[in-house]
Amino acid sequence: MKTPKPVHRCTECGAHASRWSGRCGACGAWNAVVSEDPPAPTVPGGVSRRHLHAESAAPAPPPLALVDVDPATALPRPTGVDELDRVLGGGLVPGSVTLVGGEPGVGKSTLLLQVLCAAARRAPALLVCAEESAHQVRLRAERLGALPPQLFLWPDTDVPGVSAAMAASGAELVVVDSVQAVRDPSTTGPAGSVSQVRACAELLVDMAKSSGVPVVLVGHVTKDGALAGPRLLEHVVDTVLQVEGDRHHSLRTVRAVKHRFGRTGELGLFRMDEGGLCSVPDPYALLLGDRQIGQPGSAVLPTVEGRRALLVEVQALVAPGGSGVPTRRQAQGIDAGRLAMLLAVLDARADQSIAARDVFASVVGGMRVAEPGADLALAMALWSAATGKALPPKLVVFGEVGLGGEIRQVRDAPVRLAEAHRLGFAAALAPRWCPDGPDGMTVIRVDDLAQCIAALESA
Ligand code: TYD
Ligand code: MG
Repeated sequence: MKTPKPVHRCTECGAHASRWSGRCGACGAWNAVVSEDPPAPTVPGGVSRRHLHAESAAPAPPPLALVDVDPATALPRPTGVDELDRVLGGGLVPGSVTLVGGEPGVGKSTLLLQVLCAAARRAPALLVCAEESAHQVRLRAERLGALPPQLFLWPDTDVPGVSAAMAASGAELVVVDSVQAVRDPSTTGPAGSVSQVRACAELLVDMAKSSGVPVVLVGHVTKDGALAGPRLLEHVVDTVLQVEGDRHHSLRTVRAVKHRFGRTGELGLFRMDEGGLCSVPDPYALLLGDRQIGQPGSAVLPTVEGRRALLVEVQALVAPGGSGVPTRRQAQGIDAGRLAMLLAVLDARADQSIAARDVFASVVGGMRVAEPGADLALAMALWSAATGKALPPKLVVFGEVGLGGEIRQVRDAPVRLAEAHRLGFAAALAPRWCPDGPDGMTVIRVDDLAQCIAALESA
């Protein structure tokens, strides 16, 4: 039989190569290509030979009838951290695997230690602390004010040892911090390489499924926002949570970007303070607390994440810009491409030539807004900054802006209007098809940017 050729893989982008090279042909990374174990030989149809032999030895069990599946096995159990349970649709499902991603320092270890402490009040829980020493974890737990006797640590990087630690502790929750720091000794490559991350994740998924214990993996994201190991972990886990936040602000958001047991897009809000991450059910002290009424360049946007409406302040500043120097564009909490597009549309469709000046735009409080409903609020903040005319203080603004300058409808207008009304706002500048708001709320319906500007000039 022909021996299969050795396979090489880039640890940065995951691309395969038939031979080793000093530089990856796909992403250009230097010294990132490593040799890997060859895959098992396959027959046409992509089924491994090993698998076929196993099948011929023992007859496969009959298929399972859908009605015989017990729905109770997939019921979530609350973690005890309210805002996390909101994002997860109730809590962690037995036997599920959840990946918690985020930039270093954003608060993943803190959040999960809090989850472990809450879990350990009810049943044993296990933390595989591959990055921090047991001593560091104890100091952190003391800061959080919790030393539950049923919380166990496994300060090791060896994944196969985790299942023994699970059995010995009787853990009903396991957190692995982080998946990039653990190793499977039977796989080549250093910890954090594509082959190691994939092998470790697969072993941990098997452990979760066979034991029924939920496993949470921490994963650091790289500078460009991707989870290390080209999204390969996202396929093997049931749920992917993203922790985000601006280092200089205390607000942290948790979003489910993949969730096999419920809806995605749900938003959890936390505040990082001395005692760790606190759930923030009502974030307006952080989001609107410092708003200056009557200041040009500010618009209040009722945005929607999952089922939650949230009012955020969108700010813009337009400065003359140095002659002969290229203009500056800076966007924080908003997509820079969207800002450039809106500047072009304001210029082409509404005769507002701001594009030649320096433009800065941001969402206040460290929030990130990526939905199209933010377009109109940003466009009106830009117009207000450029003209020096402040928007009415009790007005909210939402709608998508098309390339023709038209204002397009966005989802969940009633939820947006209700939240604005709850917080005392009296009017909304909104797309033509927006339904009526609650009693006492005026909806100003507009077709395009020119109508918006006309409405604001006469306000
Ligand atoms: P950490 O959970 O270690 O981040 P990650 O695991 O995502 O890398 O969070 C570290 C930051 O959180 C650190 O800068 C200090 C801050 N912090 C607090 O502000 N309060 C606290 O109670 C704790 C434990 C951490
Ligand atoms: Mg950490």
